[in-house]
Amino acid sequence: MKKWAMIGTWKMSYDGIDKASAVLEEGGSAGDAVELAIRQVEDCPDFTSVGFGGLPNELGEVELDAAYMNGKTLGIGAVAAVKDCKNPISIARDLSNEKFNCFLVGEGAERFASLKGFEKKNMLSPEANDQYEKRKKEIIEENLSPYDGHDTVGIIGLDKNGHMVVGTSTSGLFMKKPGRVGDSPIIGSGFYVDEKIGGASCTGLGEDIMKGCLSYEAVRRMEEGLSPKEIAQPLVDEFSKKLEKRQGKAGAISIIVMDKNGNWAIGTNVEFSFVVARELEGIGTYLASVDGNRVKIHKI
Ligand code: GLY
Repeated sequence: MKKWAMIGTWKMSYDGIDKASAVLEEGGSAGDAVELAIRQVEDCPDFTSVGFGGLPNELGEVELDAAYMNGKTLGIGAVAAVKDCKNPISIARDLSNEKFNCFLVGEGAERFASLKGFEKKNMLSPEANDQYEKRKKEIIEENLSPYDGHDTVGIIGLDKNGHMVVGTSTSGLFMKKPGRVGDSPIIGSGFYVDEKIGGASCTGLGEDIMKGCLSYEAVRRMEEGLSPKEIAQPLVDEFSKKLEKRQGKAGAISIIVMDKNGNWAIGTNVEFSFVVARELEGIGTYLASVDGNRVKIHKI
């Protein structure tokens, strides 16, 4: 028997991880725990970068990306640019059982969800619509860069049977072009898990995270024998430097890493909050702040 553990990006994952911890404590599966935790974030209107309440694209439409990976079978399911779907993570989980057609986008994904009976919902909250109207005005009047906000929820779960799962869900960049897809539903970039090794998930600017396939790279380094601590921050530092050299600047990048025994670490180049829950230790929210070349982590 293993000791269960979960880690999730941003403090918005707290309530979901708290509920999902009870599932794992009772011997439930990592898949059920990760799906439950992410649904909780998707359903909460207060979070402006995931699910209902997520900020829309430049046409004022909420387009959502999500993914699910089963660390036992390596099965992946993902949806991208889906509208009017209440819980994209559940659709992604369902798709992870498919041998073919496991990654669906736009209308095709919506059609699949509808045929399978997944709940439909207009995902634009009144508050998100107000922010959209305000931003549109600011962009025109003040010539501001439109892009803002891209905080993906990514959660890695390990259950008592040693099974590991990772899931992600996001509304992506505020004011993105219709059809834009970030790293979150892209295997190896936004997420990767192999329960014989461990898992990883990223949040930040998808366009930059994808250039390094950072989640896969983290798991690959674990397979070579490095610990999450030896991987997470060095990987972000190394890749940020590479981007600075090649393109002048690196976007926001944060990664969570957990090995098959529940040992965890994070790496980041921006202030980053995250949540960890482990058997016998309980749940905690942490804040990582960047101070020059050092990243300090404290419990909040
Ligand atoms: N990391 C989420 C996105 O860029 O869409």
